Amino acid sequence: MTIELTTLINEALAAIAPAQTLAELEAVKVRFFGKKGELTQAMQALGALAPEEKKVQGQALNVAKQTVMTALNDKQHLLEDAILAQKLAAQAIDVTLPGRGQSFGSLHPVTCMQHDIAMYFSKLGFTIASGDDMEDEYHNFDALNIPKHHPARAMHDTFYFPDGHLLRTHTSPVQIRYMRDHEPPIHIIAPGRVYRCDSDLTHTPMFHQVEGLVVTEEASFAELKALLQDFMHQLFGRALAMRFRPSFFPFTEPSAEADIACVACDAKGCRICKQTGWLEVLGCGMVHPQVLENAGIDSKVFRGFAFGMGIDRLAMLRYQIHDLRLLFENDLRLLQQFDRL
Ligand code: PHE
Repeated sequence: MTIELTTLINEALAAIAPAQTLAELEAVKVRFFGKKGELTQAMQALGALAPEEKKVQGQALNVAKQTVMTALNDKQHLLEDAILAQKLAAQAIDVTLPGRGQSFGSLHPVTCMQHDIAMYFSKLGFTIASGDDMEDEYHNFDALNIPKHHPARAMHDTFYFPDGHLLRTHTSPVQIRYMRDHEPPIHIIAPGRVYRCDSDLTHTPMFHQVEGLVVTEEASFAELKALLQDFMHQLFGRALAMRFRPSFFPFTEPSAEADIACVACDAKGCRICKQTGWLEVLGCGMVHPQVLENAGIDSKVFRGFAFGMGIDRLAMLRYQIHDLRLLFENDLRLLQQFDRL
């Protein structure tokens, strides 16, 4: 092999060795095997030689080409292996790392309260009824004996839709719909959302009520009082004094509002009960005969009693949440304290 050829091979091997990337290696390949590559040119130069010389030089050149090509291929495999190893290292998953953990949701305090109320009345054989949030004037007002001029109809209380429908202002329309569709005896409660155009410290435009309705031949105010008294005992887990004050609702006669002894101060007087020792928790009364008749029930044969209470307020009292708005802000710091599922 000629000295020039040996030098060429050494140069090629010296260029291949330090190549760090496939692109660098490709450049080396072009330098020796490209159209104007050094080995290509050496091959082309063979043509000018005499036949004897051509044979010897040609064989030598072939060996040189083989040597350089093998070195190039070996280097290429090396680089490819390195790239793959790098990729695998970057994508590696350490299965021994601790997991991220699961966080569990919990029930909203109002939902907990609604659930407990439903449980209490279900055990007594009451059916859970429901109605739509959107109502018409007839079921929300007229059928409940609320005449056209009643203040509850004023725009500042009720959200009206342009077509005359409205967002129910209480759960009482469920009374009418249920009585119209079912024969007595009736024992239902109807929890749900209600809406009033009101928003301040103690009012939100949407809140929750639960309606109760019993229609039988012998329903009485005494039965109503006993039921509500026992309900409050169960709900707060202790005997609570309760008082009924005469009141007025167009759809009940007689009507009453009921107070329980303040659960925050044990009726001693505090900010929550405004120093009175009492907390108003519900409205109730004997269903007005006209309302029974409006719903197709014979008021000469059947009597009814009904009650309605605010679930949010009961939840606030039981869980000692002092600001109504906290119930609707969905701050996780509050909600996470109710880890009951
Ligand atoms: N619907 C009344 C209210 O929203 C409550 C009530 C219900 C009163 C049933 C008497 C009977 O204030």
